[in-house]
Amino acid sequence: MEIIIKETYEEMCKVAAQTVARTLNSKPNAVLGLPTGSTPEGLYKELIRMHKDEGLDFSQVTTFNLDEYVGLPQNHDQSYHYFMRERLFKHLNIPPQNIYIPSGTTDNYEAFCQWYEQRIVECGGIDLQVLGIGTDGHIGFNEPTSSLGSRTRIKTLSEQTIEDNARFFKRPEDVPVYAITMGVGTILEAGKIILLANGDQKAQAVADAIEGPVTCICTASALQLHRDTTFFLDREATGLLKMIEYYEWIQAKRPGAP
Ligand code: PGA
Repeated sequence: MEIIIKETYEEMCKVAAQTVARTLNSKPNAVLGLPTGSTPEGLYKELIRMHKDEGLDFSQVTTFNLDEYVGLPQNHDQSYHYFMRERLFKHLNIPPQNIYIPSGTTDNYEAFCQWYEQRIVECGGIDLQVLGIGTDGHIGFNEPTSSLGSRTRIKTLSEQTIEDNARFFKRPEDVPVYAITMGVGTILEAGKIILLANGDQKAQAVADAIEGPVTCICTASALQLHRDTTFFLDREATGLLKMIEYYEWIQAKRPGAP
């Protein structure tokens, strides 16, 4: 695992965007796995800027989103379809037929989940998976006790996640209780994974993910089993890391490494 610490959220997003850009420059038809939420907003802004100012090309890219609320139609302003369209897709040149987001309104979830997994494989697998992390340590909506081998399926959201996400809804009772999410096993099959986390409310989850045991209680800890994961953290999110000086030592020595 690599741990990159930046002083601010903006700097963190910039370096994470450079990783995405490097992936696209080396493989213009890369398959990206994408998250929603507050965390990736700065990353998406930077990618849009790179597309507009620097010609970063998305014309051959395919994307798979991590998750979607069950029951929200695509045009609902809190659906992840809406979020992705407004915050990213309408500003880039990804062909619409290359964009995959789990359906929150299918009448056959089991068949849909199988189809989604199959499409990922048919598209060659995810080259770069971008993740956020929940305050309960979730990746996607893989809440505590999710199997670390899980695949795309329906999950019941934890009370903590519902509370965290209530800020986006008019009333807390409007937050959907179920979501469709890629599994931890699905995520671990990506070629490269980057996880972004900012703010002191994420410090515990970040410490559990990086320094805790591998456990289904913090599904982000499963990333310890992945051979190419990078954590991009702002200073506030590092508050509970015990080995912070070690990570900074490694970071400082990196440019001269053979
Ligand atoms: P956030 O959500 O980016 O809105 O904090 C992260 C997550 O739940 O994965």
